[in-house]
Amino acid sequence: MMKFSAFFFFLSTVTIHGSYASYSEDIAKNKLLPMSAAAYSNSSVNACLNNTFKNAQLINKYKTGFLDPHTAISVISNDDRAIIIAFGGSSIFTDLVLVDSQPYFGNKTQFIGGGNLTGHNIGGSFASITAAYVLKLGFYTSSQVLLYTFGQPRTGDNAFAIAHDQLLGASSYRITHRQDPIPHVPQKTDDGYYHHENEIFYNNNMTTGEGYAECDADESSSCSDGNLFDLSIDDHRHYFNVEVAKFGSAGCKN
Ligand SMILES: *[C@@H]1O[C@H](CO)[C@@H](O)[C@H](O)[C@H]1NC(C)=O
Ligand SMILES: *[C@@H]1O[C@H](CO)[C@@H](O)[C@H](O)[C@H]1NC(C)=O
Ligand SMILES: *[C@@H]1O[C@H](CO)[C@@H](O)[C@H](O)[C@H]1NC(C)=O
Ligand SMILES: *[C@@H]1O[C@H](CO)[C@@H](O)[C@H](O)[C@H]1NC(C)=O
Ligand SMILES: *[C@@H]1O[C@H](CO)[C@@H](O)[C@H](O)[C@H]1NC(C)=O
Repeated sequence: MMKFSAFFFFLSTVTIHGSYASYSEDIAKNKLLPMSAAAYSNSSVNACLNNTFKNAQLINKYKTGFLDPHTAISVISNDDRAIIIAFGGSSIFTDLVLVDSQPYFGNKTQFIGGGNLTGHNIGGSFASITAAYVLKLGFYTSSQVLLYTFGQPRTGDNAFAIAHDQLLGASSYRITHRQDPIPHVPQKTDDGYYHHENEIFYNNNMTTGEGYAECDADESSSCSDGNLFDLSIDDHRHYFNVEVAKFGSAGCKN
């Protein structure tokens, strides 16, 4: 079991392929989803790089997570003139959180830009926090950074969401898939946890051309919040019509 993952894309130049100020399904599906899948699979990272980019190198692999060790990777894509940092998800987390999330969200930490984070900093949350952190420290500006996450859980409280929105603005997209339950945890009623901007909601099987809703808001009933009860782990496992972990293990080749 696994699945939520996260990707995080630093651009070394302000523009590549035109402006990044809006959501790109092509980048999400063809570049950052494969890197997320690669981060799940320690052994197939180079195959994923070869099958995704013409000219890219692995910089490093890292171990992250406290519930179970999983992998994060950093990559240079020379053609994109970009550094990509991708975080894998956690299978154990996904299993446990649907049974009883409270113990895993309890230990809050403060974010240097304001607000509190939940105690479960993994996958999509890691990417979200990392992006906000490097902007807060002034290493990059928001126009140089692109954050895409897949099935991200709520990562902090409302103060964190406000800080994140101010730091990243239109450079941040949380991609959610139909009945994926993970974006609904922890619940808003658990200590005021709140999403940050912006959400891209696919209320379909994510085949190209099926379309999506964009909600330029922290929380919106026009996107996944419109589903009150979501319990499809399958929708958490599949993004853009691939089972993310399997896709990674197979070298990001269909
Ligand atoms: C990836 O490509 C590089 C350079 O062409 C090659 O050396 C390496 O063996 C390839 N790795 C995999 C796993 O395909
Ligand atoms: C990846 O696997 C190698 C051995 O196959 C291991 O030594 C290394 O610690 C692993 N790295 C991560 C980040 O899991
Ligand atoms: C939360 O903090 C308590 C007390 O420090 C510790 O015992 C517990 O393991 C922590 N829980 C997690 C999920 O880190
Ligand atoms: C963050 O948590 C600390 C300790 O629980 C609390 O004192 C503080 O008010 C919280 N901050 C926000 C912005 O909620
Ligand atoms: C995805 O949904 C479309 C429209 O409902 C359907 O035509 C297509 O067969 C589905 N594809 C997959 C792979 O399930």
